[in-house]
Amino acid sequence: MAMTDIGAAVLRSLDPETAHRLAIQVLRVTPLPAPRADDPVLATTVAGLRLTNPVGLAAGLDKNGEALRGLSRLGFGFVECGSVTPRPQPGNPRPRLFRLSEDRAVINRMGFNNDGLEAFAARLARRPGGAVIGANLGANKETEDKAADYVAGLRRLKGLADYVTVNVSSPNTPGLRDLQGRAALDDLLGRLAEARGGDPTPVFLKIAPDLGGAEIGLIVEAALDHGIDALIVANTTLDRPETLRSQDRNESGGLSGAPLKARARAALKAAAEAAAGRLPLIAVGGIDSGAEAYDRLRAGASAVQIYSALVFEGPGLVGRIKHELADRLKSDGFSTAAEATAAAR
Ligand code: FNR
Repeated sequence: MAMTDIGAAVLRSLDPETAHRLAIQVLRVTPLPAPRADDPVLATTVAGLRLTNPVGLAAGLDKNGEALRGLSRLGFGFVECGSVTPRPQPGNPRPRLFRLSEDRAVINRMGFNNDGLEAFAARLARRPGGAVIGANLGANKETEDKAADYVAGLRRLKGLADYVTVNVSSPNTPGLRDLQGRAALDDLLGRLAEARGGDPTPVFLKIAPDLGGAEIGLIVEAALDHGIDALIVANTTLDRPETLRSQDRNESGGLSGAPLKARARAALKAAAEAAAGRLPLIAVGGIDSGAEAYDRLRAGASAVQIYSALVFEGPGLVGRIKHELADRLKSDGFSTAAEATAAAR
């Protein structure tokens, strides 16, 4: 067991939010060595961003952009920080984060706790070189005109991130997911397009897994109409599969990890069918192995992101996923991850 995985075992013995805070602090202050260069077979491109490997960190682990260097050094091809809201906010009362160990799952109702846009922008301005960093935007709980918060985030972060994600799919801010409806989405994306002006930074849209195929189809069309550069599929689910065994299974909030796999796969499939190669996709939800990452690429994703599996497997998981993914790509005769994605179209 690698040192980092022993650390993960220690963290699992603490209450989840304390463990999370400690992990960020350790990653912030520990001078980790640069990871080994990625196998060239792992290379891909998402919306013009060149990635040395397609395995990214999903939003929510480093909400404030505090540990970008340490996280990049775990070997991720890209790291997404946030969600950030314009004004700092405390989030929901604790407890609000639950580890469902028997189910290899997490339930969270954090509610966008974060230090706000100014602190976030200051940290991004000192971001590590060489890493691909995305910034995920949310909206304050009290804001009535939610679209205005995304516009504020986009404007403030111009030039500071390699890409920006518009997160309209967190279940813990009342009204947020309503922005996925066609009229609200047209308004939001139209205002964002105007705020972007000619700025070349790619803008991604992150959607919920709790949508039907027709809804996903409408979102894909809206995204294309308004120049969105990629779709991230998906956020946590409000569903509670019957298979859940852990004591905390009925806590409210978003469920992630292994029980999200089937839903996230189905949402990806619907998005891939609707997009028909016109819009890059990033797959998230229950990815915990190289085999699963490979399946998502073969279903049309250009890249993947992980979060919950890291809680159970430790950061050594990133290297293991990359290793297995490289083996599978080679044994199927692909010379890059990008080729595997293209073959799905
Ligand atoms: C998240 N996720 C998330 N997503 C987002 O866009 N903004 C956020 O602030 C957060 N916050 C957050 C906190 C916690 C504790 C968890 C577990 C998750 C969702 C995350 O990025 C991802 O979409 C889901 O967790 C599904 O992937 P996994 O965890 O099954 O790999």
